[in-house]
Amino acid sequence: MESLAGRAYLVTGGGTGIGAATALHLAGLGASVTVLGRRKEPLDTVVDEVKRQGGDALAHPADVRDPDAVDAAVETTLDRFGRIDGLVNNAAGNFVTPAEKLSPNGWRAVVDIVLNGTWNCTSAVARRLIDAGRPGSIVSVIATYAWTGHPGTVHSAAAKAGVVAMTRTLAVEWARYGIRLNCIAPGPTETDGAGNALWATPEDRDRVLSSVPLDRFATAPEIGDLIGLLLSDRAAYITGTTLTADGAQSLGPQIYGPPVAATRT
Ligand code: HXC
Repeated sequence: MESLAGRAYLVTGGGTGIGAATALHLAGLGASVTVLGRRKEPLDTVVDEVKRQGGDALAHPADVRDPDAVDAAVETTLDRFGRIDGLVNNAAGNFVTPAEKLSPNGWRAVVDIVLNGTWNCTSAVARRLIDAGRPGSIVSVIATYAWTGHPGTVHSAAAKAGVVAMTRTLAVEWARYGIRLNCIAPGPTETDGAGNALWATPEDRDRVLSSVPLDRFATAPEIGDLIGLLLSDRAAYITGTTLTADGAQSLGPQIYGPPVAATRT
């Protein structure tokens, strides 16, 4: 069961939602976890919960947009756990807006968090792995609109597409170091962050749900479970790819009609 026993990982956006669920899951698999995020309080809550379940975790407040702060988080992880084995790029910023109303600063904020933040964390962790001559694994949380596009989220879609290109490039470039990089593309997932940002009203929620053939939202723990799988040696031959876990949403129920479950009486 403890497929990550003795290892240490950094999870960004680790205080809430998918990040928090992933941190708890990795700790349950035997890993030590540094959770990074802008607000200390939710990070502390996750650390407390990990410890309550018998694991070890560390809270490191930082903004992924700040390369020096990210570097300090990696150093703290090394000081505390003696090693780092990989990273989960989960921190994201997003809001829905018509593209023609998006300000330069709104574009910059989302691209800085999603694309530049992912690079800041990926390069900081990978440099340590390469210097130490150790293998590692990096998983980045994206969305299927990285390739389908999605009206209202041009900033996020463009940035997530950049993360996919980064992942594919580095999977080839750093294979020689034993560093694997993959993405996971969850469909709509039941978390406060995504819910507040993307389906705030009951009507929006119903609309999103009706687009998912499996007829439900993903749960954060089931996405955390898949991230744990990609980090582990069970995925040792998987690199440079994206695991889509979206209930077939991106395959387009709008083309084939409503979900089968919704048509049953
Ligand atoms: C229009 C907006 C806006 C909104 C912010 N802005 N919210 N414009 N509509 N709802 C604009 C601001 O006016 C400002 O531009 C610029 O964006 C930066 O805003 P700040 O609040 O100053 O930036 P900052 O504090 O850095 O916040 C970043 C953020 C914020 C991205 C805007 O929402 C954030 O931190 N979010 C983190 C959590 C989050 O978004 N989680 C959801 C991820 S879910 P001006 O021009 O006025 O200065 C996700 C899942 C997708 O990604 C997949 C689903 C399937």
